[in-house]
Amino acid sequence: MKPLNVPGKETKELLERDHAVISPSYPRAYPFAMDHGKGSEVWDIDGNRFIDFASGIAVCSTGHSHPKVVESIKNQVDKFIHISSDFYHPVWVEFSEKIAATAPFKEPAKVFLGNSGTKAVEAAIKLARSHTGRQHFIGFFGAFHGRTMGSLAFTSSKTQYRENFSPMMSGVTHVPYPDAYRPILVQSEGEDYGEAVVRYIEEVVLARTVPPQETAAIMIEPILGEGGYVVPPAGFFPVLRRLCDKHGILLIDDEVQSGVVRTGKFWAIENWDVEPDIVCFAKGIASGMPLGGILARASVMDWPMGAHGTTYGGNPVSCSAGLATLELNEGGFMKNAAEVGEYTLDALSEIMTRHPSIGQVRGKGLMIGIEFVKDRETKIAATDLRDNIVERAFHNGLITLGGGKNCVRIAPPLNISQDLINEGLQMLEDAITSAEAEA
Ligand SMILES: Cc1ncc(COP(=O)(O)O)c(C=O)c1O
Repeated sequence: MKPLNVPGKETKELLERDHAVISPSYPRAYPFAMDHGKGSEVWDIDGNRFIDFASGIAVCSTGHSHPKVVESIKNQVDKFIHISSDFYHPVWVEFSEKIAATAPFKEPAKVFLGNSGTKAVEAAIKLARSHTGRQHFIGFFGAFHGRTMGSLAFTSSKTQYRENFSPMMSGVTHVPYPDAYRPILVQSEGEDYGEAVVRYIEEVVLARTVPPQETAAIMIEPILGEGGYVVPPAGFFPVLRRLCDKHGILLIDDEVQSGVVRTGKFWAIENWDVEPDIVCFAKGIASGMPLGGILARASVMDWPMGAHGTTYGGNPVSCSAGLATLELNEGGFMKNAAEVGEYTLDALSEIMTRHPSIGQVRGKGLMIGIEFVKDRETKIAATDLRDNIVERAFHNGLITLGGGKNCVRIAPPLNISQDLINEGLQMLEDAITSAEAEA
């Protein structure tokens, strides 16, 4: 495979202009400068074509510029673009009705809409405190919930996100994420690692430092996102739910990355048949238009008028794109995510047999993580190797993203074809082969 000559001339020039004017804080992955995209393929401004295994961090769920999404946006823009959440309009209500109908709990749901993942998490934090009248929260190490001052208090995937920003919002205690590949707690006989984590929460955290009767909520990503697509063991969510019920603690399910069909179910938590109290969503919900929010049990979303809001709540263009996205998901993309996801997991497991640097392949649907290690025995994280693989994949014509310390994330559009998966996996395996040879 002949590597692409990237970054090309146009990209290099753009990078110079970008660096002169755009905040240096954005964590750029590598020099890909987008010109246009179609489905699961994207082209840079030098004319190079790439297969997209990242979909704008799991956002372009229906592929780039799906005609139905484009049409819905155009139609709405012609009518009106904004009126603010101080008033009413039908697209907002229709979208909210449709997303409420997907709620992973039996009770009726109510919806709050904003325009990003972090705003969804902020809403969940405030609602949990408002509804319970309690102050404390439990979060998980390795999690990413956003970068504003409330969500940042939960984000713990890297200290880099917190450096220079303390003090954080108070009241958040972190516990180990149920990562059975890298356990740090001791399991009792007969329990899985997920059950061990919940036992730790109950016997250590809630017994020694965080009074359960003062704990508003436990917030968790059902599958770690930015932290490396870690999937909890089977026993975890049912016992976590029981613990919450025992103490009247709310379960906040942050599905900003894992939700809206990505795992082959509408909500990732449905993979464990457990009902949360509040669900956060964003990213894939509107195929790239800024839309995020929470849905909560109607009995929980009981805050009074004025308690929370945002100018852009229920933006009609985003809600229109959201409606088109939901329709496409129902019309076959969910099935595709489950089927092509399973195919991809199998193919990666086979690739793993040829590459000793792959310690684990895991995931659900089209949310798949590949963990790279120095050797399978010690499981020492191979961060440099992972970085090299991501870079080489880019040169081979494949867009991927790193996750955690040593993971590559696979999160293509949900309608990606098996042919493009095969082509992309070949590019990825070539990148792994050459990076291993160089290591
Ligand atoms: C699980 C999760 N929650 C919250 C966020 C924050 O979303 P945003 O970047 O839209 O603020 C992210 C972003 O990656 C995420 O993956």
